[in-house]
Amino acid sequence: MSASNILVIAVDGPAGSGKSSVCRGVAAKLGMRYLDTGAMYRAMTVAVLAAGVDVADEAAIEAVAEHTSITCGTDPGAPEVWLDGRDVAESIRGSEVTAAVSAVSAVPGVRRRLVEIQRSQVQAARHADVGIVVEGRDIGTVVVPEADLKIFLVADPAVRAERRALENGAGELPDPASVAVTHEELLKRDAYDAGREISPLAQADDARVVDTTDFTLIEVIEQV
Ligand code: DC
Repeated sequence: MSASNILVIAVDGPAGSGKSSVCRGVAAKLGMRYLDTGAMYRAMTVAVLAAGVDVADEAAIEAVAEHTSITCGTDPGAPEVWLDGRDVAESIRGSEVTAAVSAVSAVPGVRRRLVEIQRSQVQAARHADVGIVVEGRDIGTVVVPEADLKIFLVADPAVRAERRALENGAGELPDPASVAVTHEELLKRDAYDAGREISPLAQADDARVVDTTDFTLIEVIEQV
C-alpha cells in the first residue's frame, strides 16, 4: 500500500512514549486529521470529578457518562476538546484528572460511549478522503482493527518519565525528585491500563513497534 492510500493510522502505546507529538507531526505532514482519544477519556474524568462521584463507583460513573457530551476537534495544529460545550483542553491535563483517568477509562459504559464517537470520527475522515491519525491504547486492537497502518510506540520508562516531567513543568528543567514521582505514577498508570479487563493497552499482532528512546521527535515522525 502506498502512503497516499493510507487513510487511517492507529497509534497505541504507554504514557510518555511520544504518541501525541508524533501523531500531530505525522498528521500535519501528511495533511491528515488527528484524534486524541486519551483527551476524551480525560474529559469524561473531568465530568466525573465535577459530579463528585467516587472513581470506584462504576454505576455512578456510567450514569454521568450517559448524560455527558464530549466533542473532540481533529486539527493537528490545534487539538480541542469540549465537555457539554465547554472548552476543557486545559483542565484535562491537571494532576487530579491524570490520577483518576485510568479508573474512569476502565468503566465499560464510558468506553462504549467514547468508542462510538471515535469510530464515527474515523468514518467521517474516510468519507472526506483526508485520512486520520488516531492515538490511544486500544486503537489498533478494538477501535479501528481495520486501520491501514498500526504503530505501537514504546520508550524506556526513565526517558518517558523525563519527557512527562518536562511537559508538566512547562519546559522548565525538572528536578530529579519530580522525575522520580512522575516515573512512579507513569508505571502505575501503565500497569492499570494494561491490566484492565476491557480493551487493555495492547499491541496489535500486525502493529509495527517503534522505539522512540534514542530518537528525536523529527526522526520518529520520519520513521512513521
Ligand atoms: O494518552 P493519555 O495519557 O492522555 O490517556 C489518558 C488515559 O486514558 C490513559 O491512562 C488510559 C486512557 N485511555 C484509554 O483507556 N484508551 C484510549 N484509547 C486512550 C486513553
